[in-house]
Parts: sequence; C-alpha cells; structure tokens
Amino acid sequence: MSKVKILAVESSCDETAAAVVADGHEVLSNIIYSQIDLHTIYGGVVPEIASRAHIEKINPVIEAALREASCTLSDIDAVAVTYGPGLVGPLLVGVAEAKAIAFATGLPLIGVHHIHGHICANYIEHPDLKPPFAALVVSGGHTHLVQVRDYGQYDVIGRTRDDAAGEAFDKVARAIGLGYPGGPKIDAAAKRGNPDAIEFPKAKVGGNDYDFSFSGLKSAVLNFLNHAEMTGESVNPDDLAASFQKAVVEVLCEHAQMAIKQYGVKDFALAGGVASNTALRAGMKAVCEAEGIRFYCPSPVFCTDNAAMIGVAAYHEYVRGNFADYSLNAIPNLAM
Ligand code: KG4
Ligand code: ZN
Repeated sequence: MSKVKILAVESSCDETAAAVVADGHEVLSNIIYSQIDLHTIYGGVVPEIASRAHIEKINPVIEAALREASCTLSDIDAVAVTYGPGLVGPLLVGVAEAKAIAFATGLPLIGVHHIHGHICANYIEHPDLKPPFAALVVSGGHTHLVQVRDYGQYDVIGRTRDDAAGEAFDKVARAIGLGYPGGPKIDAAAKRGNPDAIEFPKAKVGGNDYDFSFSGLKSAVLNFLNHAEMTGESVNPDDLAASFQKAVVEVLCEHAQMAIKQYGVKDFALAGGVASNTALRAGMKAVCEAEGIRFYCPSPVFCTDNAAMIGVAAYHEYVRGNFADYSLNAIPNLAM
C-alpha cells in the first residue's frame, strides 16, 4: 500500500512553516521561515507584522516543501493546518491557504491543535513511543502537563495559571538586556553562571498541585534587579540567568515527577520550544532515570514551531477519518 502523504501548514505565531510527512513519522520536507529578524527590534512578536509576513511567505514556503519532498499536489493525500491556539491573524493566513488548496484539489482537509502537534513531534524520531504516556509541553504560549491516553486523546493534568514558561524566559531575558527571543540566550548565559548564586522563590499554587505559576518568579527577578539598581550593587547577568533557569526547571521537574509517580507513567515526553533548554532536558532525563522510565525529547528543530509536527498529528486524525469542512476557522484560544 502506498504511503499516506500529508502536506502540513503551520502559521500560528512567528514561523511560516510547511512540511510533507509520510505515514505520520517520515519527514520528507520541513521548511521553516522564521520571522525573528522582523520582530527583534520590537522585543517581541507584533501580530500585524507577523500576519503580513505569513501572507508573503506562505506560498513560497509550501512550494519549497513540495519541491524538497519531490512531490506535486497530485501525490498528496490530505492538507493539514494548525487552526489554534495562536494569534488570530497569523492563524487565519494558514487556515485560508489550506482551505484554498483543499478546495482547488478536492483533497481532504484536517485541522490540527497546535499543542497536539508539539506532543506528536516526539513520534518523528522515536518510532517506539506509543500512547499511553505523559508529556510536558513548554513553549512561548503554553505550559501543560498532559496524559496522552491514545492518539488524539489528551487529559490535562496541570497548566500555568499565568505566564507560560517560555514567556517567563523571554521577559527575564529582556529585563537583563539579552534581547528576543530570550530562551536560547538565557540558556547560553546560564552555562557561564552559578545556579546557586541567587535563591528565587518557587511558586506554589492553591487548588491543583500540578498547576504552575511563573509570574511571581518573573516579578522576583525584576524586584531583585530594581533593588540592586537602587543600592548600587552590581548583578552578574550569567548568575541571574542560571539562578532563574534553575528555579523554572526545578518546578517543572518536580511536577512532572509527582505525575509520574501518581499516574504510574512508563514513558515521558518533553515538547515545545522550551524543550530545547539544556538544563530542562538534563533535569527531566534525570527524573525519568530516577523513576526507571523512558524519556523522550525531539531534536531542537522539532521542538520549535514547525509544520512536520502538524503533519504527524494530522496523520492520526486521517487514520480516524477526522476531517474538517470548509467552515474550519482560526480559534485563537482553542482549548486543549
Ligand atoms: O514552541 P515555540 O517555538 O513557540 C510557541 O508555540 O510558543 O516556543 C518558543 C519559546 C520562546 O519563548 C523561546 O524563548 C523558548 O521557546 N525557547 C527556549 C529555548 N529555545 C526556545 N527557552 C529556554 N531555553 C531554550 N534553549
Ligand atoms: Zn508552539
């Protein structure tokens, strides 16, 4: 039987991406146009600029994905697109594009949840990973501790009450003058710093032990900087980055370990942009080793926003016959 080839499109934030994925794990192409250079001077993503750049790049990016996969649209079995959560303008560009391709070719259309995509990125390089497993999704917009019951079936165990983990990285990086996007810069600075130099509080959240809160930690960092400025004390940015990163990683790992014990988890997967973080990868690997369970994490190119992960998630919808119609719309706050 010939392979199921899915053309996938992702445009939920500041990456315009397209990919062709065969049978839900074989990445035939994975084209990512990052808009970072357009947003850096503003210190964050400007939605209007992002939407415009998506419109300009989406066709060339899709053409490149088909070319690199040595495909034409006649070789494709379905068109998939992220329809939420994300920024409404950027999402609409991808959704309109995918609907247009599906309408013009008669191909089935599949709407994919962005977070499901991040989790499914783990299937690309780890064919042995199969549900059920637990996952920690940490990105610029999301922090979710999830139980993956089956393909397409997710139970959220814990989530952030305020800032996402990546958002905290970006805001702290900005405060110490490292620029945008802050995560990779904090990661690099932390390698030169002492993680025990400054003791930052670990936020506790009432109600659900698995929930996270990062806004308090962010405020603690800002207060520390203000205090140092007022008293004329010098701050070593590398020590600050390392100490902040340690506080974030510790709370993520503690919650994950608690879930592994309570739910009898046997396989654990990390996902999302922050899953590239060196300390988090090492910390989660150590937790899984201590608990005697398997640990999975995508390569950095599949952690950050990409369309290959959308093609993987879409394959499992395809297999279950879960198709969208032309009423598919962008849903910026799509629930998990
Ligand atoms: O998944 P992603 O590309 O986009 C969203 O869906 O949000 O995640 C982007 C986030 C940004 O906040 C970025 O600073 C963070 O991931 N990030 C990192 C690292 N690489 C990217 N955070 C910490 N350490 C890293 N190495
Ligand atoms: Zn993402």
